This record gives sequence, structure tokens and C-alpha cells, in this order.
Amino acid sequence: MSIYNLPLSVTARAGTNIALVKYWGKRDPTLNLPATGSLSLTLANFGSETTVRFAPDAEAAEGGDRITLDGAPAEPRFAERVRRFLGLIREQARVGLPAAVATRNSVPTAAGLASSAAGFAALALAGSRAAGMRLPLPELSALARQGSGSAARSIFGGFVEMAAGELADGSDACAQALLPADAWDVRLVVAITAEGPKAIASGEAMELTAKTSPYYAGWLKAVPRDLAAARAAVLAKDLASLGQVAERSALRMHACAMAADPPIVYWNGATLAAMETVRRLRAAGTEAFFTIDAGPHVKVLCAACEAALVEPALAATPGVLRTLVLAPGPGAEVVREEHR
Ligand code: PMV
Repeated sequence: MSIYNLPLSVTARAGTNIALVKYWGKRDPTLNLPATGSLSLTLANFGSETTVRFAPDAEAAEGGDRITLDGAPAEPRFAERVRRFLGLIREQARVGLPAAVATRNSVPTAAGLASSAAGFAALALAGSRAAGMRLPLPELSALARQGSGSAARSIFGGFVEMAAGELADGSDACAQALLPADAWDVRLVVAITAEGPKAIASGEAMELTAKTSPYYAGWLKAVPRDLAAARAAVLAKDLASLGQVAERSALRMHACAMAADPPIVYWNGATLAAMETVRRLRAAGTEAFFTIDAGPHVKVLCAACEAALVEPALAATPGVLRTLVLAPGPGAEVVREEHR
């Protein structure tokens, strides 16, 4: 494709998402195909904004693409992941130019809010557009999946379901919208329980779980039922049913990982204390339900009107460092497109 047919630059944003039915395990690591489906909620205001420009002068001094994160050159491991992803876009769009990628994250670092989900969703949208493609949403979601499994879900807003798919090429392993962000006024209250990066990255942890956990087969067998129950609960806006599945799914994922060899334990004392706070709130009549990702933080789903009660209870829990209240948000969108 001639450079004159490409936009000068495209900026896109995407919100992060939190899974209520977890994705944990791949059926194909090369194409990053999940072994099971998953279900999530995309969040407002916490995400990534990414600008992509394909041009001959975009090449970095050391060769290859120029990649910055929050204004500074990205660290080598992250830059390599982004370069690999740009390679997929170049191949699909038949563009042979280097790219300049500038990403800004509004996800608080070390908050366990999956910046890679928002990051690769924003990069898939900005990158594909900057390379002259206008992909239909399922294709955009399948592209984002190749950057990070959970990124496929951040293409859509509100409640989202990701399919495991069956095809070998992964074209049916993409997400779809279940319920828009403004259709159900819920909140996720995040209890941050530690600083610093997670103990073991999710990709590596999934691989270890699949290879060594005797519970992995049981996990795979249980997910379709959880997914069906969660989907029905979302469509019926039944918080108690959705919350029950969400807790079950998170506990099963962690139980499965804990049984790996060597064991994968993401929790700390405050994780357990925050779970106990949620059970106490529920016993006192507040509909609140926890989920936990590949880290020690606890995320609590509740109705918007209950967040004012849930947040202080979590903040007062021993070991909880701070809290955040997050609302449902929109899917990935282009915020700026400049032309030559
Ligand atoms: O998208 P990844 O590879 O970072 O994996 C996400 C794993 C979990 O956050 C723990 C679960 C999920 O479904 O998001």
C-alpha cells in the first residue's frame, strides 16, 4: 500500500476489563487461542490511549519500530511484544513501513487492572486504522486477542462474552457485546492490597497450570456451565446470580493455579481479609461479590447505589492500601485521525 493512502496518524482509546468468568489456559499458545470462553465487564476511565503512525522516518535509532510508554522508551520486553503485534498488522495490511507507537496508560500501575487488555485493544484499533484497514469488530477483537487474550474483550463496552472458538486459524475466537455499559448501573470496587508487579505473569502462569495442575481438566470442564449461568444472569440483570458465578469462577481459577507445580499463589493476607469483608457485607444484606485476577487485589461487584457502603468497608480492611470505584465503560474508539 502506498504511504499516501495511509492516515498520518490514528489515536484510539480502550478501557480495561475485569473477567467475571475467568480465562485461564490456552488451546493454542502461538495464536493465543483460549481453551475456554470468558465473560467480563469493560470499565470507564481506566485504560490506554495509543497513537500509531506508519512512516519511513518512524524507525527507532536501534532499528525497528519506535515505541514509547507514558512518554519514555518502553522497556525491552513490552517493546518486543508490541513489535511482534505490529508485525501481524503489517502482514495483514501489506504495509512494509516501520511504526511509531505512543501509549499512555490511565490504569494505575500495579493496581492489577490488566493494562495489557486496554493497551492491546487500543493498539489493535489505532494500528489497523493507521495501516489503512477498517476491520469489522469481530476481526478487530480476534486481532487484539493475539496481543493479549483479555484484550479481545476490551474492543466492546459493558458486559462482554469471549468465545473460545473452534477453528484452527482462531478467526472465531473473538468477543461480542452482551449488554451495553449504560444498561446496568453496577460498580467494581477495587481493594489494592500490595504494591509492585505480580509474582508471575498470567501467560506463564497459565502454561504452568495447564502442564502441571491436576485440577486443570476439572477447570476446563466447569467453565461452560459458569459461562451459561453468567450470560443468563447478565441478560436478566440478576446481580446475585452473576455474583455467585463470579466468586465461584475466581476461586476455581485460583484453586487450579495453586495446585500447579511449583504452586502459583497470588493472594496475601489482605486478599483473604477483603474476601471476608465481602462475606460480612453480604451477611448484613449488601449484595457484594468478589473476583480476583492474577494478583493479590480484590475487585468487588455491587450495585452503583451500594458502592458508598462497600468502599469504606474495604478501605477499613486490615492490609488494604487504597480503593478505587470503577463504572462500566464503552468499547474501543478512535479519538483522533490525522491525514497527510
Ligand atoms: O489476557 P491475559 O493473558 O493477561 O490473561 C488474563 C488472565 C486473567 O486476568 C486472570 C483472567 C481474565 O479472564 O482476564
